[in-house]
Formats: sequence, structure tokens, C-alpha cells
Amino acid sequence: MDIGIDQIGFYTPNKFVDMVDLANARNQDPNKFLIGIGQDRMAVADKTQDAVSMGINATAEYLDQVDLEQLGLLIFATESGIDQSKSASLFVKEALNLPARIRTFEIKEACFALTASLQVARDYVRAHPHHSAMIIGSDIARYGLATAGEVTQGAGAISMLIKENPAIIALEDGHTSHSENINDFWRPNNLATAVVDGHYSRDVYLDFFKSTFKPFLAEKQLQVSDFAGICYHLPYTKMGYKAHKIAIEGQDDETVKRLSDNFQLSAKYSRQVGNIYTASLYMSVLSLLENGDLEAGDRIGFFSYGSGAMAEFFSGKVVAGYQKRLRPALHARMLKERIRLGVGQYEDIFTEGLEALPENVEFTSDANHGTWYLAGQEGYVRQYKQK
Ligand code: CAA
Repeated sequence: MDIGIDQIGFYTPNKFVDMVDLANARNQDPNKFLIGIGQDRMAVADKTQDAVSMGINATAEYLDQVDLEQLGLLIFATESGIDQSKSASLFVKEALNLPARIRTFEIKEACFALTASLQVARDYVRAHPHHSAMIIGSDIARYGLATAGEVTQGAGAISMLIKENPAIIALEDGHTSHSENINDFWRPNNLATAVVDGHYSRDVYLDFFKSTFKPFLAEKQLQVSDFAGICYHLPYTKMGYKAHKIAIEGQDDETVKRLSDNFQLSAKYSRQVGNIYTASLYMSVLSLLENGDLEAGDRIGFFSYGSGAMAEFFSGKVVAGYQKRLRPALHARMLKERIRLGVGQYEDIFTEGLEALPENVEFTSDANHGTWYLAGQEGYVRQYKQK
């Protein structure tokens, strides 16, 4: 039985900072950000968008096509959680009127969490034929103003429906995993911004790629040339490009060209949005599917990396007719119609985002009609509304 991705929804907030503006404000050469880091723009979540509202918006995009009778599981993956105890998924369930009988919870392992959700969902569907699972990854990446990590911030969510006979990607059996207890990036409970050893995190990412990619090829008896494209966790696009260069080492011209072209297509959304932590890998998969020209049966590699650290490599095949399930025009419009913030405006929004939510203050949203947003907090209960 084929199991895999049947729907993908994507949401990113309606504001961004241009990387040239940010470089100028930080007295950096813009080419360091545009080429050295590989980012053009960075999505900014104002106080009306948090992990929950972004997750609702990504899921609402395809909800009308879900058979709710079949839905049995909802997992919310995030490292931008809004509560130490209660699952963010319960807010999603209420907002979208999902059935009360579903099993639902939140999970965390940095940027690996959505991959963990995908694997749990796949096993769930395997064990419960004719049932489906919804998995959401939603995050706001915050390092701090004028820090080295600032240029790698971002905000957004991906939501996917996992079921048998999927319409977009059929996952293949097998994966290689690697984990170690290390301190490359983390966020203690008392901090609103991440602690990061940036250059070390970059090295560990590449070490973990080496620890999973070649062993995967050996285990599955595959060649690099068997992949139409490889998608990477993209904390910033240059990071994935470094892993890509390792993957194509020693390959023939045709393979190098195909994988390099598809790498650039997979990085297109990330260049505009920035790091959305646990959903970043899946935003690159969506970017490749919506901007590329893959054919039915093409194999895609997935490299998932979560600091702390945990990595996994696995693969899937593109399903015939997958284009009909995608919404490239909607996503192009969402990215195009964003408001360009001045650096001062972004700094004000960022600083406000670090503060505790005020009680009983109603927030208004300037997002498009239909968008879900955080309307405030009453008695420490976050209130979500649809515009
Ligand atoms: N023109 C072109 N390129 C330039 C340039 C210029 N004028 N000036 C510098 N560059 C290049 C540098 O040569 C370098 O390229 P290479 O990496 O290919 O050598 C690149 O720009 C970055 O330069 P630096 O390393 O000097 O940059 P930095 O010290 O400011 O830090 C960073 C970069 C470590 C990525 C920092 O932004 C950071 O800490 N980011 C957050 C951590 C992160 O994203 N880590 C990734 C792995 S961890 C992970 O994946 C999990 C996750 O999501 C967080």
C-alpha cells in the first residue's frame, strides 16, 4: 500500500524585510546576505500571528478537500510553542471544527519534529488503513536584533494530509537516522530567542548529512543519479547548498545539472521566507513541486535536520497528476502581496514579540479577509479569530 503526502498547505505572514535593507542597517555588504547566506527576504510575524494561527491558516487552505470521516490523527510540530502543557493542536481542532474523536498532540525535536510527525503519521496509516493523519509544522525563528543569526530568521507553517494512495508524494520504505546529544542550537524555557553556536551548527548539519546520506544509498542500493531532486532542511539556502555540493561530488554532468537546477527551485520559497524551522524542509519540497517540472515516478530525497541533534534521510516518489493538487498561484500571490517593512518597523515588531501578551487587549489584523489571527489573550487563554 502506498502511503504519503496527499495535500500540502502553506502559510507565511503578510510582512517581510528585504535583505538589502537589513544589510545596510547592519553595516554589512548586501552580498553577504544575498549570496553568502543565500536569502533575499525574511518573513516577519507581527503580534497577530503565532505558531497556532499560522498552523490554522496552512491547514485551512486544503480543509474543504479532506474527508473528515477518515481523519484519525492530528499532530502539531513546533519549537515556538505557546504553552508548556497544552497542545497547540487543540486550538487548531477547535478553529477548524475537526472531529472530537481524533487523537491529537504536540511534539518537539527542533527542526526534526515535522519529520517525526510524518513518520508517526505514516505508521498510523499503515496500522489503520482507510484512516488519514494531519500534520502541521509551524514556527517563528527568532535570534535577536543585530545578531549573526538575524539574517536567518523567518516565520511560516506547512500542513500536510498523510493517507493511503496519496495524490502528491508516495513515501518509499526505509530511512537512515543519526542522533547525538550536542549543543549547536537550543532555546531554554526562559528565553524568547534561540541560543546558537552558528559555525558549529553548520558543521554538525553537514556531518549529520554525511552520516545519513551515503548509508541511505548503501542500504537502499541506490545511486545519486537515481534522484530527480534532493530537498534539504533550509535554515538558510546556502546551508542546503553546502550539503548539495557534497551530494553531487564526483557525479556525471547530467546528474549535477539536474540536481543543481532542482536545488535552486527547491530553495525559491525559502529565499523569500527565511527559516521556518521544522517546516523548512517541507517548504523546499513544496517549492520544488510548484516551481519545477517533475514527472510521475521521479524520486525525491528528503534530508531532515533538527538541532540538538537528530537527522534523517528518506525518499519518496512523485505521483502522476500531482500538479492538480498544488496551488502555486495562491502561494505566488501570498508572497507577492506582502508588506515591505522598514528596518525600524521590523525592529519594533520584533521587540513587541518578545514581550508577554497583554491581558484583555483586542488585536486587530491587517491580513487578508479569511485569515486566522491571534486576537489577544483573556485569563491567559489565547483567542483566535478569522478575519
Ligand atoms: N559576499 C559574498 N559572500 C560573503 C560576503 C560577501 N561580501 N561576506 C561573507 N560572505 C560569505 C562567507 O564567505 C560565508 O560563506 P561560507 O559559509 O560559504 O563560507 C557566508 O557568507 C557567511 O559568512 P560568515 O560565516 O562569516 O557569517 P556569520 O558569522 O555572520 O554567521 C551563520 C553565519 C553562522 C549562518 C549565522 O547566520 C547563524 O548563526 N545562523 C543561525 C544558525 C543556523 O542557521 N545554523 C544552520 C545549521 S543548524 C540548523 O539547521 C537548525 C536550524 O534551523 C537552526
